[in-house]
Amino acid sequence: MKQLQEKILTEGRVLSESVLKVDSFLNHQIDPVLMEAIGEEFASRFAGNGITKILTIESSGIAPAMMTGLKMGIKPVFARKSQSLTLTDNLYTASVHSFTKNVTSDISVSKDFLNKDDVVLILDDFLANGQAVLGLLDIIEQAGASLAGVGIVIEKGFQPGGKEIRDRGIRVETLANIRTMENGKAEFFEEEFIR
Ligand code: G4P
Repeated sequence: MKQLQEKILTEGRVLSESVLKVDSFLNHQIDPVLMEAIGEEFASRFAGNGITKILTIESSGIAPAMMTGLKMGIKPVFARKSQSLTLTDNLYTASVHSFTKNVTSDISVSKDFLNKDDVVLILDDFLANGQAVLGLLDIIEQAGASLAGVGIVIEKGFQPGGKEIRDRGIRVETLANIRTMENGKAEFFEEEFIR
């Protein structure tokens, strides 16, 4: 997605060979115009798949999931990372290990919002080691729901998550797939290569 790649090149900051800061439009401040375009792009890529639910994880997955939900007429649900005062039982839970932050956290989704009749689109902001997506897959399996695919705003293609998920036969659609950041600048895979 050209518009997103340009935004990454103009506003993103490569902090190291493996970390990209995109706080000005995705992870802290949010660009609603770009989010709307992202929503339209995911909606068009996953149209006609019978999707009934979008599943993401708080917090940065919520904005793209919300815009995609608006464009598809589907309610997004986000997995919570912290325990809620009002959400205490009737939960699907899974463990997610972050290699980046070296912490393992439990994520949870209420059984009220996901069931065996759902066809789910997983959406997230970043795909790095794939642990967040694997945790969401675990929750979908517990619910007995089916998976339509995974939509990712920014994939770091030089990290192993994308391959691991695609190797399971899962469709992964990435809007910007970074091949390398070794020269202090993000360089992207061509879209034909990814799909
Ligand atoms: P994984 O799920 O693919 O295994 O990711 P990993 O454990 O490596 O990353 C943990 C957190 O760091 C996730 O956010 C992920 O989105 C984010 N992340 C990974 N690589 C980058 C990067 O290069 N740049 C930025 N900005 N974020 C990255 P999180 O902890 O769930 O945070 P949030 O959703 O609350 O923002």
